[in-house]
Amino acid sequence: MVRDVLVEGMYGRIFPKHLEIIPQLNEVYELALAFYESQLLNEDELIRNGAYFARVGERLTRHYLMCTGEPVRLPKHSSSRLRSFFANNLFKTGYATHGLFPYRGKFHPQMIKGLINIMGLKPGDTILDPMMGSGTVLIEATLMGIKSVGIDVSPFCRFMTQAKLNGLVIPQKPLYGALKNYKELFEHFVKVIGQSEQGSKQRTKGRNNWLGSVVRETTAAYEAKKSKQQHRLIGSEDAAVYDFLSLAYLDSAGYAERSNRASPIEQFRTVLERYVFVVEKIQRILDGSESELAEARALEGDARALPLEPQSIDGVLFSPPYSFAIDYLQNDSFHLNYLGEDIVKLREKMIGLRGKKLREKYDLYIADMNQVLSECARVLRAGRLCTIVVGTNDKQLSKVLDVPPEEVPGLHKILADLAVEHSFIPVRSLARRISGIANTMREEYIVILEKT
Ligand SMILES: C[S@@+](CC[C@H](N)C(=O)[O-])C[C@H]1O[C@@H](n2cnc3c(N)ncnc32)[C@H](O)[C@@H]1O
Repeated sequence: MVRDVLVEGMYGRIFPKHLEIIPQLNEVYELALAFYESQLLNEDELIRNGAYFARVGERLTRHYLMCTGEPVRLPKHSSSRLRSFFANNLFKTGYATHGLFPYRGKFHPQMIKGLINIMGLKPGDTILDPMMGSGTVLIEATLMGIKSVGIDVSPFCRFMTQAKLNGLVIPQKPLYGALKNYKELFEHFVKVIGQSEQGSKQRTKGRNNWLGSVVRETTAAYEAKKSKQQHRLIGSEDAAVYDFLSLAYLDSAGYAERSNRASPIEQFRTVLERYVFVVEKIQRILDGSESELAEARALEGDARALPLEPQSIDGVLFSPPYSFAIDYLQNDSFHLNYLGEDIVKLREKMIGLRGKKLREKYDLYIADMNQVLSECARVLRAGRLCTIVVGTNDKQLSKVLDVPPEEVPGLHKILADLAVEHSFIPVRSLARRISGIANTMREEYIVILEKT
């Protein structure tokens, strides 16, 4: 009896025999999402869009292929850093273009794929992330054939998301040109964007408007100069390629700022190599599969006033800023410094940063999130789901609400209660451990709500 139970194994009891679970699944919430996927998706859907299965019968799933990158291999000369990045992140941010740019608070993309599935979204539906950050939801949805709209108050987020989406389809030849000419390209970006000071958090002044000009109105003269240079350096005038390479430069400048292990130009080469490899890997998989990519719209905007029609969305999935005390603008957020003149304006709209004293910040945070939830309810179709991923943040809340940490309701509970006021009803909540920022939070919650 004991032997029979052990031989059959837990997965054998939970999942049908023909489903093989993905490697590196090691958290309870992942097992829960895998279970819901196995209940809600048919075999073809699991093969095309499943997040937690490697094999359905004899067939490998598309997600497994995307993650492992079969049959693409890293070139032999690749650095050990690049190799370990891909080995450790194979089923995390190591697939598609998710690993590009280390944006703080980025979603775990595999979890997003799982959530999109269990929210009942199918190809042709439209999903919204009203606080898209680095665009994880948009990239996953695009790969799954689900249309998406992403909004973020930060123009850098729009820029980054668009570059990562473009990475799924941009021509590869100019990227090889860029790698070959990486020294000249580095010099070019130093002139156009500026250079960070190695190993320090300082950066040279006088170039803060660069991103603003790329993101918004680019002047004709700037464009002409850029395309001439561009053509010489990478053999292409494709703006999407140029923006993709700019993101690689910004990424490498961030590394150079944080560490002085290698010279900035060497950091650039390493990062660029990774960007090129990422494109090669995902495009090879996409070329070999029949599934179409869906349309994605990355917009700059305010989640408190969504530029969308009522009842036009089939699912909402997002993660709000967790904290109302960490000053992302002032702290170490490298990329935000490139926004230059917009920083003051941005602060006024940035949820979590508004207000002065902690209590005022908290009150504004709650009022803002209330407005965001009301907007989500307005644009979501009835009977559809809205999923919020939010950290508990007990220590800060304990100070603000003046109650012991163990009695704090938790942000997930506070937001779920607010949501009920906007015709949402709670459907399921899953806890998930987070590592890294353990001093403020130890857990986050996946809160699934239904619009009645
Ligand atoms: C936790 S991050 C989201 C990260 C994202 N899930 C990802 O995978 O990269 C929260 C985001 O909310 C954005 N945000 C803050 N206030 C906003 C507002 N009023 N409207 C829209 N986005 C806002 C921030 O710029 C930040 O990118």
